[in-house]
Amino acid sequence: MTISLVTGGAGFVGSHLAERLLERGDEVYILDDLSTGAINNITHLKANPRFHYTVDSVMNERLLAELVDSSDNVYHLAAAVGVFLVVESPVYTIENTVRGTELVLKWANKKKKKVIITSTSEVYGKSTRFPFNEADDLVIGPSSMGRWSYASSKLLDEFLGLAYYREYHLPVTIARLFNTVGPRQTGRYGMVIPRFVGQALSNEPLTVFGTGQQSRCFTYVKDAVDALIGLMDNPATPGQIYNIGNPEEITIEKLAQTIIAKTGSRSTITYVPYSEAYQEGFEDMPRRVPDIEKIGAAIGYRPKFGLDEILDRVIEYQHHPDPARASV
Ligand SMILES: NC(=O)c1ccc[n+]([C@@H]2O[C@H](COP(=O)([O-])OP(=O)(O)OC[C@H]3O[C@@H](n4cnc5c(N)ncnc54)[C@H](O)[C@@H]3O)[C@@H](O)[C@H]2O)c1
Repeated sequence: MTISLVTGGAGFVGSHLAERLLERGDEVYILDDLSTGAINNITHLKANPRFHYTVDSVMNERLLAELVDSSDNVYHLAAAVGVFLVVESPVYTIENTVRGTELVLKWANKKKKKVIITSTSEVYGKSTRFPFNEADDLVIGPSSMGRWSYASSKLLDEFLGLAYYREYHLPVTIARLFNTVGPRQTGRYGMVIPRFVGQALSNEPLTVFGTGQQSRCFTYVKDAVDALIGLMDNPATPGQIYNIGNPEEITIEKLAQTIIAKTGSRSTITYVPYSEAYQEGFEDMPRRVPDIEKIGAAIGYRPKFGLDEILDRVIEYQHHPDPARASV
């Protein structure tokens, strides 16, 4: 039986990942400080004798060391997530992300436990080479603009993970998640789909930042979780970076219109300048499209869920927001 540790396992992606791992027979340990996650996401798993959780931070080094030692592999998802959080609490974002990864790698290295680090499509920054390929140059904005600290922290995670691979032969794989959505995701930290659906269901205006002509691609959480497990199971992935995404693209304005139509809402759309939504000089990316050939070749990954189905499932969840019934 495989024993897996999921840091950030009470979060949105982590809770679905834990569930999938339990389903296939793994023993699962979760370490989460509930900073953006919620105990409700995992309460229904407590009855499973192969499930164990600890509410604490990855910064608790002794505990982390023990949990890593008891596990065969580590899915490292714990991080400060969400653009609002990044803009409002930059010190916390940087320190929590980078230090957490540093400690996970340090302890995994003691007994060469396989690690997956969840990075983000944000690292492609302002690149205009579409679709984004793992070998592309990354175009990060200036350090005077706080929003780039999230991308840069995750990038440092990637460098550190790959350095452990090269220098110490620690099996580390980097997964760059593109916008991932599904039940249990909260709109509180700026995630666009849950935020729009919440606004539509309460007939409030949907707040589109900027012109709405920026586009995004959305991945269903089940596809993302299956990809993470596939990468962990494949012995050829360490030392490599993989995009996990869905190339289906939609503008944010069209997304807002679609959600209004699907929910039968009376909401209108309000356009909010970025400087008001975040901070003066905030830069958004006009497009972000994943190239998924590499992960397709490695583990046969192909996204199974299109945007239409994703939206239906998120809307259904927000009508009845019960994390225990939100299995994907
Ligand atoms: N959801 C997305 O669209 C997306 C996109 C790109 C990357 N990612 C990455 O995937 C991972 C999971 O994201 P998510 O969307 O599930 O967000 P989330 O906020 O739901 O999950 C992060 C979890 O980590 C926990 N956490 C934070 N700091 C911690 C610490 N020091 N110790 C222990 N637990 C801690 C939080 O409480 C939370 O449960 C993150 O690393 C994120 O950067 C997510």
